Amino acid sequence: MAERIEVSGSYRNLKQRGQAQISLDGKDYAFPVVEGSEGERAVDITNLRKACGYITLDAGYQNTGSCISGITYIDGEAGILRYRGIPIEQLAEQASFVETAYLLVHGVLPKKQELRDFRNLLTANSMIHEDMLTFFHGLPRDAHPMAILSSMVNSLSIYYPEVVSEEDSDEAELNIAMARLISKIRTIAAFSFKKSVGEPFVYPSNYTYCANFLHMMFSTPVQKYKLNHVVIRALNQLLILHADHEQNCSTSTVRLVGSSKVNLYASICAGICALWGPLHGGANQSVIESLEEIRSNNIPVKKFIEMVKDKNNPRRLMGFGHRVYRNYDPRARIIKNTCGEVLGYLKRSDPLLDIAQELEEIALHDDYFIERKLYPNVDFYSGIIYRAIGIPTNMFTVMFAIGRLPGWIAQWKEMHNSEPFNIGRPRQIYTGPTVQDYIPISAR
Ligand code: SDX
Repeated sequence: MAERIEVSGSYRNLKQRGQAQISLDGKDYAFPVVEGSEGERAVDITNLRKACGYITLDAGYQNTGSCISGITYIDGEAGILRYRGIPIEQLAEQASFVETAYLLVHGVLPKKQELRDFRNLLTANSMIHEDMLTFFHGLPRDAHPMAILSSMVNSLSIYYPEVVSEEDSDEAELNIAMARLISKIRTIAAFSFKKSVGEPFVYPSNYTYCANFLHMMFSTPVQKYKLNHVVIRALNQLLILHADHEQNCSTSTVRLVGSSKVNLYASICAGICALWGPLHGGANQSVIESLEEIRSNNIPVKKFIEMVKDKNNPRRLMGFGHRVYRNYDPRARIIKNTCGEVLGYLKRSDPLLDIAQELEEIALHDDYFIERKLYPNVDFYSGIIYRAIGIPTNMFTVMFAIGRLPGWIAQWKEMHNSEPFNIGRPRQIYTGPTVQDYIPISAR
């Protein structure tokens, strides 16, 4: 078993690899070159502005490392993804989501007793405060589940105020707060579904993590949902595949908001809101909407691809492309295989899967996509499985959030343990008006 590792993103974990020379205004400056455990290198410009008065400019942070992290490693060129060093393929095949959540948050795989204790903690914290039900009664039935999720998660700090920030809580308190979040996010999601279909809330039982979610989603007071191992396994796998992905948009949001030392729930709420965007986690909903559009309007797939390539058309092939992967997203490969398993077991076919596979086949042989290294990402096939399970399209990004939560928590915790700890505050280059006087309204 791996020894418990020091889970912090500190400079002491970096190797020094010489210096980078920069010449500015006739003067030469040297900045350290640092290297991580997988050979990734960076120029450490922590002292750039102090040394020469310059800052760097990097819109969208495409070339900027915001932190040092020991949680997730991605090699975008090779299509590699590992959580705490363990390949995603092995976790998806052999682990449970609860084990993976423990691995991300604590840095090591749990021993048998640790896993039992963690599962019990999740079960003990699966109910939401009864007063929170009044939120649901006041919401319109068509409220988007991501709006419900973000507001309900933020409201947890009202009902459980004891966790302010990582430094104000001892390990036990923080573990309860983390378990509370990981457990209750399921309940909030399931209750938002029940609200949307006008059915009574089904309270959590003492099932395993994914079985409990399916029970709360699909059981009714008159009929218990018939749990089956293929769907439970597929859901475990989907949550594992979404559990962390280094410094993506929503995780960077959790870190930035968390760096102000606001409480864990508010930091996670910010991450949920960032994930909702269609360029990020909201893409899984957009993919299905695109496939539905192709099917219901009988759009020839080849014609749809031409529309996507047309520079005058803002449309994108949702679920394709990635800022880091310039190869097939390893998660998409796994999910695509599981689509076949789930549909086969449920003895169902889905015309949208056929359309998705035709889109992929055409795109992977089209120069536009090849030149730009655009491949299916995690969102391209996930919605097919959610549909087969019976999860409505507008809840797909909620499913992404349930999966990503342990990663957000792990990154929030690591950020608080990092040395040095700084509030995140990027600089800018100003291009607005130079100094001018105020003109009183009488003279305007
Ligand atoms: C997730 O960061 C993460 O790790 C995210 C994530 C995670 O686990 O957290 O992996 C989850 O968010 C996956 C991505 C889900 N989003 C989508 O599927 C939306 C569709 N994809 C894109 O919008 C886009 O590919 C991004 C946003 C994912 C990445 O955009 P980049 O890296 O900023 O690339 P870009 O927008 O600069 O595009 C480069 C070129 C452009 O063409 P040119 O101007 O060079 O001619 O590629 C084109 C783009 O027009 N392009 C696409 C495209 N994605 C990029 N063209 C058509 N369809 C697409 N999907």
